[in-house]
Amino acid sequence: MRDGNLICLGIEGTAHTFGIGIVSEDGNILADERETYKPPEGKGIVPYEAKKHHENVAAIVLEKALKDAGISTEEIDIISYSAGPGLPPPLLFTANFATKIARQFSKPLVKVHHGIAHIEIGRFLTGCKDPVVVYLSGGHNAILAFVNDSYKIFGETQDITVGNLFDRVARKFGLPMPGGPKIEELAAKGRNYFSLPYTVKGMDVSFTGIQTAVFRLIQKGIRKEDIAFSLQETCFAMLTEVAERALAHTEKNELLLVGGVASNKRLQEMMSKMCEERGAKFYVVPQSYSSDNGVMIAYTGLLAYKKGLANPFEDLVRPRWRIDEVKWFI
Ligand code: ATP
Ligand code: FE2
Repeated sequence: MRDGNLICLGIEGTAHTFGIGIVSEDGNILADERETYKPPEGKGIVPYEAKKHHENVAAIVLEKALKDAGISTEEIDIISYSAGPGLPPPLLFTANFATKIARQFSKPLVKVHHGIAHIEIGRFLTGCKDPVVVYLSGGHNAILAFVNDSYKIFGETQDITVGNLFDRVARKFGLPMPGGPKIEELAAKGRNYFSLPYTVKGMDVSFTGIQTAVFRLIQKGIRKEDIAFSLQETCFAMLTEVAERALAHTEKNELLLVGGVASNKRLQEMMSKMCEERGAKFYVVPQSYSSDNGVMIAYTGLLAYKKGLANPFEDLVRPRWRIDEVKWFI
């Protein structure tokens, strides 16, 4: 507690990033430390290696975060951690690490849903109120909106996420993870559009047809830049179409883009134009908070604690925790 404000320390570690954020009740970000595991070139995340990475950096990330905030562990009121969804080995490490600190200093422990945290940090930093949420990341490809007491999923992918697809294509190009930013760079230099399968069903999308077609173009020796350009244009047109449908269906007038893919400028441009044409307001999470971080877990932990929604279930982690299972509020 500081100046009458509750202070929450949040720990993220569901996949590639181990991060610790410290946030106070009045909305000040007191610390934001992160370390990211990078898989070997041409490879995806190896879950056990991600866990080992987190194990190696956790103590130092914690020490740095406390130092940045200039506070002692005694001044912290709440410890929160991302309990899912994610990869079991790094998730379990993170949960055990959080539990240990909470026990050691006798602090309440709050379990946070990683996806809700991506959304809530976006709502907080942009100031939007009740948006249609487009959440695009490694593990999520969802169109959501808040209805009654939870974020409901209006549209999903029927197979892989757009983030996954970009990572896979980048890997085929021999580029390191994360592939999304590399695809964006290449696409900016693309000139020729190659037609790719456009699969939209209601508010759902499917990307495996695009993957097959893109791999074929790579085999044919088509320029990487043109492939990346065609990939972005097709996937983002599909996503913009389903986002527009969700706006029409829910009659909401705000759109919020969150998750790692949200930092893509071309995607932002297409979503923003669509919103402008419909008279809706477009918001995007600031780039520094679009990918995984501890601040979003601390901020959401604080919200949950104050509402008495600390998710006190028995299991330490929920690798397949669905966002619409979480009783929430906005
Ligand atoms: P989840 O939030 O579902 O658990 P995650 O935490 O692994 O998944 P994030 O860190 O939020 O995912 O996002 C990572 C994804 O974002 C990767 O697939 C990465 O390639 C993609 N990405 C990052 N920057 C860009 C970009 N500029 N353009 C496209 N995709 C991007
Ligand atoms: Fe994430």
